[in-house]
Amino acid sequence: MKRVKTGIPGMDEILHGGIPERNIILLSGGPGTGKTIFSQQFLWNGLGMGEPGIYVALEEHPVQVRQNMAQFGWDVRKYEEEGLFAMVDAFTAGIGKSKEYEKYIVHDLTDIREFIDILRTAVKDIGAKRVVIDSVTTLYINKPAMARSIVMQLKRVLAGLGVTSILVSQISVGERGFGGPGVEHGVDGIIRLDLDEIDGELKRSLIVWKMRGTSHSMRRHPFEVTDKGIVVYPDKVLKMKTIVSIRPGV
Ligand SMILES: Nc1ncnc2c1ncn2[C@@H]1O[C@H](COP(=O)(O)OP(=O)(O)O)[C@@H](O)[C@H]1O
Ligand SMILES: [Mg+2]
Repeated sequence: MKRVKTGIPGMDEILHGGIPERNIILLSGGPGTGKTIFSQQFLWNGLGMGEPGIYVALEEHPVQVRQNMAQFGWDVRKYEEEGLFAMVDAFTAGIGKSKEYEKYIVHDLTDIREFIDILRTAVKDIGAKRVVIDSVTTLYINKPAMARSIVMQLKRVLAGLGVTSILVSQISVGERGFGGPGVEHGVDGIIRLDLDEIDGELKRSLIVWKMRGTSHSMRRHPFEVTDKGIVVYPDKVLKMKTIVSIRPGV
């Protein structure tokens, strides 16, 4: 089985070699946990390995996304010009100047077919191997009952295209689970990022909850965000809380 290396320091060790090719991964976490940086680093590292990538921007302006990436040293513009990287603008709806310089614009987010058509076109145009949708939550925030069906539609399309994908899923602070009713059952893998206050300090950690096609670390590993992106510590474990029984004698 082929694996897609995230290239994020420490992460492929936790995944026992990388993400199995064609897997659809849900990357869940609260605000500021590092979902966007993780997924952008995954795409950037792919470019270095000759694997074209697509970033679907739903949460931030594409101009902002390029700037944020460049701050980590991930300047995608050269790759965009070479047709190895593409941005899908699902943020501006084509309002303003974006229609002059964005090639792939989704105009109506309530129409999942338009979204899928544009994504498919972008993937085919550049021969993408990696896709990031940041975030899928935005696609069903106003219609939670549709969450699972939207993710399943995306899964069919992405699997058919042969790409390995990260679907970013937003959850609120302190929320358990992975976001969106039933969404977690449709995906091949789940990685959860956390930010927890421990002894008066915010600590970052991640855990691989599910990864079809491979064994993986079952531990909660600390990670850091640096000027060069995310660094995960596969040799360290973050113990969040001691498990205590709430029923006496159990
Ligand atoms: N250069 C940097 N060095 C250290 N931490 C950073 C740097 N840039 C951003 N961060 C951290 O990353 C967080 C944002 O991560 P992001 O991936 O955008 O979160 P999410 O998408 O989960 O909301 C910031 O709140 C900050 O704590
Ligand atoms: Mg984000």
